[in-house]
Amino acid sequence: MSSIRSVIIPAAGWGTRLLPASQSVPKELLPIYDRPAIEWVVEEALASGIERVIFISARGKSSILDHFDRHPLLESILQRSGHEAWAQRIADRNRSADFIEIRQGEALGLGHAVLCGEPCIQEEYFAVMLPDDLYLGEPPALGELIALHEEKGGCVLGLHTVERQQSRQYGMVAGEQISAHQWRLEDMVEKPQPEESPSCQAITGRYLVHRSLFDILRSQNRGALGEIQLTDGLRRLAQEGLFHGLVPRAARFDSGSALGLLIASLAQGLKSKDAAALRHAIEELTSS
Ligand code: G1P
Repeated sequence: MSSIRSVIIPAAGWGTRLLPASQSVPKELLPIYDRPAIEWVVEEALASGIERVIFISARGKSSILDHFDRHPLLESILQRSGHEAWAQRIADRNRSADFIEIRQGEALGLGHAVLCGEPCIQEEYFAVMLPDDLYLGEPPALGELIALHEEKGGCVLGLHTVERQQSRQYGMVAGEQISAHQWRLEDMVEKPQPEESPSCQAITGRYLVHRSLFDILRSQNRGALGEIQLTDGLRRLAQEGLFHGLVPRAARFDSGSALGLLIASLAQGLKSKDAAALRHAIEELTSS
């Protein structure tokens, strides 16, 4: 059994980068190939040994939790119309973990969103997954972070390499590279100017952190954009103990943008039963 059992998934944002698609549908429910983006993220969590999924949500976004709930009417219609496998899928998905929703009443930042999950975390270490960072394929990205934590102890952040010019979009880390995929981290800074970025390693939306982060976030002043920034809290946590960085091997997609959603859908479609038809359609579209 994995030592990390709970994940907090902040999902309270408006999805402005995905307007107009996200105007009345939570961006986390927009499809990637055949299922909502959030289901791929939850599948990664479950494949990594997670048993409790805590969505930090907001007004108008309860349909995220509904997606993981039982649906007696739909299940009985599916059963009566010869689609038992689909009915079973809904029931199995609901039983696969405890799904919990906590509302973030005010948009006070990512650090605040994580703090909202505190009442549901009983263990010393827990995971945070940002659903805009989508990892598809094996091994599950979060599972790789958990394996490193189990081997070496301490906190683990997911990393990916970016162009220096992109540092304004990410939390950027300082530290020592100890192998192709691993770093020992000393510090991190949220969205620095390119000339001030300590490296080209960006924090991606996968975190394994000690629960003392909650005390840090509670006492923290507002940072960039007037928000309680998760990276500012991590920075203080890194001063207290061991911090690793790991570049997951699975393919990463930005599901918070229309282009990223489309590319992820194509990538997943090309691995599916529809692959041949999709290849044919792409050839037709690109040859004209
Ligand atoms: C957030 C974090 C940032 C991280 C990024 C990963 O930024 O604040 O440190 O690098 O997610 O996607 P956001 O994308 O919410 O601006």
